[in-house]
Amino acid sequence: MELDDVRDDLTDVLISKEQIAGKIGELARRIERDYDDQRPLLVGVLKGAVMVMADLARELRIHIDMDWMAVSSYGAGTKSSGVVRILKDLDTDLTGRHVLIVEDIIDSGLTLSWLLQNLERRGAASVRICALLRKPDAAKVDVHVEYLGFDIPNEFVVGYGLDYAERYRNLKGVAVLAPHVYE
Ligand code: XMP
Ligand code: MG
Repeated sequence: MELDDVRDDLTDVLISKEQIAGKIGELARRIERDYDDQRPLLVGVLKGAVMVMADLARELRIHIDMDWMAVSSYGAGTKSSGVVRILKDLDTDLTGRHVLIVEDIIDSGLTLSWLLQNLERRGAASVRICALLRKPDAAKVDVHVEYLGFDIPNEFVVGYGLDYAERYRNLKGVAVLAPHVYE
């Protein structure tokens, strides 16, 4: 779905499909160079990272493996608390593997900081993060992101995997959701 198809539900358009494609290409070139023949395991965090994973994986001209995790952040209210529960775990043994976590967005950073530690404890040779979006003004913990797409303002965004109540994941670009949609 194009951003224009739901333009009334959006305020600012932040990132077009062309900008996303260009950035994914840039990140893929760096990842190829860094991992070369190490056959990294790309770990996608469901559900938001599905689009990034699908496009990034196809852009890579090296052999990779893919696996998926689903996690939920608990806490008072709707914000991430850093207390994370695994809803679906990996099928892959991480011993000695080079792991690249693929995420849609880093908000507080609490989920990824937890996930990074969790995967490191499983005996991986290395664990790095690739995230399409980051909200620097929302950071509660510092998480090092080796491969970052875009820094964005601290507003609720949808599209390219990101949803509001499961809608808008299939938008080709990323935009700020208009308040009238959730008020
Ligand atoms: P933390 O705060 O732990 O959480 O970094 C990251 C997760 O929160 C979700 N998230 C969003 N989802 N629009 C969304 O649709 C947003 O603007 C947004 N900000 C955070 C997302 O699931 C991410 O993995
Ligand atoms: Mg997510």
